[in-house]
Amino acid sequence: MSAWLDQVFCEDALEGLHRIPDGSIDLILTDPPYNLGKDYGNASDQQPVDDFLAWTEQWVDAALPKLKENGSLYIFTTWRSAPEIFVMLKRRMTMINEIIWDRRVPSMGGTVRSFTSVHDTIGLFVRRKDYYFDLDAVRIPYDAETKKARSRSIFIGAKWLEQGYNPKDLWSVSRLHRQHAERVDHPTQKPLEIIERMVKASCPPGGVVLDLFMGSGTTAVAARNTGRHFTGFELNPDYCRILAERLAEPPPAEQLGSDPKARGRSKVRATDPGSDPGFPAAPPKKRAVRKTPARAVAPSAAPNNELE
Ligand SMILES: C[S@@+](CC[C@H](N)C(=O)[O-])C[C@H]1O[C@@H](n2cnc3c(N)ncnc32)[C@H](O)[C@@H]1O
Repeated sequence: MSAWLDQVFCEDALEGLHRIPDGSIDLILTDPPYNLGKDYGNASDQQPVDDFLAWTEQWVDAALPKLKENGSLYIFTTWRSAPEIFVMLKRRMTMINEIIWDRRVPSMGGTVRSFTSVHDTIGLFVRRKDYYFDLDAVRIPYDAETKKARSRSIFIGAKWLEQGYNPKDLWSVSRLHRQHAERVDHPTQKPLEIIERMVKASCPPGGVVLDLFMGSGTTAVAARNTGRHFTGFELNPDYCRILAERLAEPPPAEQLGSDPKARGRSKVRATDPGSDPGFPAAPPKKRAVRKTPARAVAPSAAPNNELE
């Protein structure tokens, strides 16, 4: 077991990235502070704009060498910073998609001097043409009614009708409310549905996902649930405890059933976040799950701006 694999380190990502070997990551999936003034128990979301953009560039440059040559990067951001961040990333990588996450905010008045903002912006970037992408893993099945409506002979047996459709780049998924079972005490927790879609599409089974800003650990849980490895960082010890609790829960039964790789890998090494940044899972509440052995990963060459 590598010291960094299936671990979340309770420390500053920029200080901890040296733990991760270059060229060892299949997917960087990260949801950094948006700089909208939120209180994460640190000042990361409350920076002067120029400092925030310089810091973003700094962690991007520290993280990219960790990515494999055919790896991908998803970054969550907001329309306020997306233009600058995307231009900065386009100097280093190739942009594949801008995904709009429609948070399905109900209509309840809202601002009167602009249109109410109800979406987050997500950029998908790659290094090379042969980047890993498994559309079949994330197709959305057609409902029975649509299938019936396409019952004309020209559609019968059509592969696309059986396989389901491309989720496209507008994702309408409700933000998490208090009543959602997966909701924990983090102000900007992302829905597992979204993160699992990204992991399944852009990280091969058994591959490694890096999130520099774990928050409540959604990326780690999504990786574990889908049979991938994870690694990453979170600055706030309270969130580190929350994510340890989430990781101590076994994956949902349907995921255990459908993905054998999801079995036996929900436990991470226990340490006290206060004394050791290596992050701990609280003892499993229901049952212990065996760790899988560490996967050997090969270093790769320097970053590349163009698709090859
Ligand atoms: C937008 S939240 C991530 C939410 C997460 N995706 C989830 O679903 O819970 C960003 C997180 O980054 C953490 N953070 C800020 N600066 C950091 C740093 N330098 N290193 C590691 N974590 C940091 C914050 O404490 C916050 O929890």
